[in-house]
Parts: sequence; C-alpha cells; structure tokens
Amino acid sequence: MKAIEIRNKYLNFFKNHGHNVIPSAPLIPENDPSVLFTTAGMQPLVPYLLGEKHPEGTRLTDYQKCVRTNDIEEVGDNRHLTYFEMLGNWSLGDYFKEESIQMSYDFLTKELQIPAEKLSVTCFAGDEDCPKDEVSASCWKKAGIPEERIYFYGKDDNWWIAGEEGPCGPDTEMFYDTGKPACSPDCQPSCDCGKYVEIWNNVFMEYFKDKNGYTKLEQKNVDTGLGLERMTMLLQGKETPYDTELFEPIMKKLEELQKIDSIQSRRIVAEHLRSSMMIIADGGRPSNIDRGYVLRRLIRRMIRHLNKLQISLDEISTLIAINVENLKGMYPELEKNQATIQEVLLEEKNKFVKTLAHGEREFNKEMQKAKQAGTNVINGQVVFRLYDTYGFPPEVTKELAEENGFQIDLEEFEKLFKQHQEKSRAGSEHKFKGGLADQTEETIAYHTATHLLNAALKQIIGKDAHQRGSNITAERMRFDFNCDHKLTEEEKKAVEDLVNEWIQEGIPVTKQEMSKEEAIKSGAECMFIEKYPDIVTVYSIGDVSKELCGGPHVSNTNELGRFKIKKEESSSSGIRRIKAVLIKE
Ligand code: SER
Repeated sequence: MKAIEIRNKYLNFFKNHGHNVIPSAPLIPENDPSVLFTTAGMQPLVPYLLGEKHPEGTRLTDYQKCVRTNDIEEVGDNRHLTYFEMLGNWSLGDYFKEESIQMSYDFLTKELQIPAEKLSVTCFAGDEDCPKDEVSASCWKKAGIPEERIYFYGKDDNWWIAGEEGPCGPDTEMFYDTGKPACSPDCQPSCDCGKYVEIWNNVFMEYFKDKNGYTKLEQKNVDTGLGLERMTMLLQGKETPYDTELFEPIMKKLEELQKIDSIQSRRIVAEHLRSSMMIIADGGRPSNIDRGYVLRRLIRRMIRHLNKLQISLDEISTLIAINVENLKGMYPELEKNQATIQEVLLEEKNKFVKTLAHGEREFNKEMQKAKQAGTNVINGQVVFRLYDTYGFPPEVTKELAEENGFQIDLEEFEKLFKQHQEKSRAGSEHKFKGGLADQTEETIAYHTATHLLNAALKQIIGKDAHQRGSNITAERMRFDFNCDHKLTEEEKKAVEDLVNEWIQEGIPVTKQEMSKEEAIKSGAECMFIEKYPDIVTVYSIGDVSKELCGGPHVSNTNELGRFKIKKEESSSSGIRRIKAVLIKE
C-alpha cells in the first residue's frame, strides 16, 4: 500500500466515525515563537485541548506535516527522519479510552489488514501522579489483544507531553512485530533491537503540567499520532523509509549520478532535501538564528554529502524537480512553490560553496595541529570558529572529524554557541535603541554593511567621519556620521564603489573578545565607549574595519549583495545621513 493510500484510508476511516477532516497546519507555527517547527499533530490544537471550542467540533482528524530536529546527525541511518507526516485523530472532550482503542484496533486490523498476532500494546504502569491504566488494558483485551501482549511501563515510555509543560497524560502505544528473531528471551516492545516497531500512540490527555505539578483538565481528550513513513515501510515489508516510493526516485537518481558510493550520504541528501523543500514551501528561509538556522544546517549538510558523492551541485535543480514530481500529489505546495524552493536552495548553495573550501582547509590545518599535540579531539573553540567564520554547522565538522578518525568537543562548542547567542540577543536589545529592529538575515546583512560604510567614509571623506547613529530595517539602512559638507556625486560614488569592492572581495568577518582597553588601543572604532562592559567583542572585516560591537554579523562580506546609496542629506548640524540598500543579485 502506498503512503497516500494509507493517508486517505486513515482520513476516511475517521470521517466515517464522525470526525471532521481539518487541514495540516504549516510547518512553521503561526503565532507561536516558542517552538521552531510543528513537531506533532496536537501542537496546533493545544488551545482546544485546553477547552476552547473548535469550529469543526469535538472529533477531528488530519495529516500533519512535522519537523523534529533533535536528531539531525542521526539521519543517514535506517530510520531517523527530520521531516515526517503524522496522521492523527482527536477527541476534544468527546470519546475516551474505549472508543479510541476500538477504532485504532479496527483501523489497523480491518483497514490496513495487519494480522492481530503482529500487534502488541503498552499501557501506563501507574505512579504517584496517575493510577495504573487498567481501563486501557481491558479495552485492548476486549478488542482482541491477548493479555500476554499487553505490557505496562512507567512515565519514560507511556506518558506523553510536548516539552516540559502543557496538556499531557498516560498513553497507550501500539507495536508491530517485524518477525525478526527476539534478541533475548526478555525481548519486549520497549526493546530497541528492531523486532518491535512503535506504530501508533494514543494519548489520554486529562492532565495539565506546570512547574507546580499536575492538575486535571476540565475535559478528557484523546490525541493520537501515527507516523506515515514508518507505517508505509512496514506495510510494504521494506527495511527503511528510503526503500518506499516516498524516496525511491530520488535515491535512484543519486545512485545514478554518484561517482563515489555511499548509502549514508545518499540518504542524508534525500532526507535533507525533502525536509528543506517542505520548510521552504511553508515560508522558511535560511538564516543564522532559530528555525532559519535549522534550515541552513539541513541544506549545508546536504551540500557536503553531494560533494562526498561527487555529484555536481548543478544537479540540485534536477533533484528538486524529481521530488516535486514524486511528492506533488501529497503536497501540492511543493509544485506551487517550486520556483521559490529552487531560488532559495541555489542561493544558499552559492553562499556555502564560497566558504566551504576555505573552511575545509582550515579544518585540515587544525587537525594537523591536534595531531602534533598528540590528541584526536578538535576543541570546541575551533568548532565554533569554523561555525562562526565559515558557516560550518557543528554536525558537518563532526562528520569531517570522524571521517579522519577524530572527534570534536561538542560540549564546549555548545557552551560557546550559547554564549554567542546570548550575546547576540543582548547585542540586539542594545542595538534596538541604536537601530537594529530585529534579527533577520536582511538586518544582519545591513548591520555588516554599516561597518563597511563606516570604514569607507573614513577613507574617502576623512578620518574624522565618525558614526553618529544608525537605523536598520529589513529593507534599508540609515547611517549618520559627522561631516561638514554635503557629499559630492564623486564622493558618493567613491564610497559606494569602495564598499562594493570589499563585498566582492569576499572578506571573512571575524570576532574576538578582549578588554575594552585593549580594544581601544588596537584602534577599534566605537561610538559610545561608556556603554560597553569591560570585556568587549570586536568585529573585524579583514583589515578593512574593526569595531566594538555586539553583533550579529554575516560571516563573509560576499553575503551582502550590491550596496547602493539612495540618498544623502543633512541630519542635523554637522551631521550627514546616508540611506542605502543592499540589492540581492
Ligand atoms: N502527541 C503524540 C505524539 O506525538 C500523539 O500524537 O506521539
């Protein structure tokens, strides 16, 4: 049975049982900045699980597009996916355990025709927060699962909550026996050996958890989730999702194009390409923060593995087209947004190839240094520098290291990354007053452009042309500086040309921490010295510019596009104002 048939059977089955079919919410949650992506079908339904009335009633069903990224580096094995589709049905204070379990059993055994002997189930064993779920167990028995295939586990296995707080409850999970031999006489559904595969999870959401503990919800809900890729693979008797029709065409093409054979790299390319395309179709764009950064990591890891397979990056368009053709029946948004997907992926590719070779060279140098020092661990600072200067996601560096028998200190990297993010955030709050209204890829690019403009003005107008203020939006930058005259056409053109020359040179933007004193001594430019703490961050753009600054910045000037001055005017006495834009080409 194909994935789309399973999806249709599911939605129809629940429709016939009084459920209204609702559309999948976008992968990028609306009005919820607290999560990066939609990770479960219940996520867009939280207000209704908490008691709000849903316009479609109390019985709902849908397919939900989901992205989970905690295991990016596991992708490439035979089961981890970052994008997947979750089929779900909900009771919002309507039916509860008995009806839910009976419907699940009927769907699995009658609609999908899974032999009942292949099914085992697990229920909550009970603890001080919630009693043992005897009710679910007896519902399963009544439906047709014998007692010896009903298992009880604690919160680690049979309790579901999204994150730390929110609606939650005991769950009952269904497992499919693949028929593989048991790894030991004690082999059970909770075992990871591959004999049992979880196929469906029904959560009986009647609690709410916050930092003070558990309270009962006003209504008893059911929230279920069935992973489509996994079910498709099992019903087709395939070993991995990559062997199903969802991935087959792209895997085949990769095999045809590759000059070096690697099943792991082919899977990584196939998986990350599909995820990236789905995220972009729902409005995601690569950037250096939050969900944009996840997308960037997916794309960059995919590019490196295309390189490993020795497949020309020019083939990316072909690969996109194959996925669109294969998946448009399930996701019409892929076809509708094909041009954008193509544009975004190619632009990101162009950015990354510029720094990839430099970064790899740098990595090799560091590896030699580590070797000489008698260690096979690449320290976290190096991993961070490769990230910060060359845009290497840590998992890319980790893979490079492992390919050479090295390891990386991920913990140290994560500490530095966190500090960096906190500083960027603090920086952006500080900059908010000074001008950086938000932190999108555009505003970050404009921010770096102000540093270049600041440096160019000093060369063309004179050493005393200091920055007096700036204001940045995603569309333009404004920059105030002291100067006693209106700029001539020649001066404006010379400033513009110089900035563009630096952009074209592709100069890396680097960052250093030092004492304020040292920073000033080193000639770093600074607008309000008294505003800075004793230890400061200094951003350098080659030897063109050096400024005290909270960041964030692009990692290379070649990311900026073409710089164009739109206007030059007086701001106040002795202060001129330039309005400029960056044009993406
Ligand atoms: N929310 C549960 C899960 O994600 C059931 O849908 O598994």
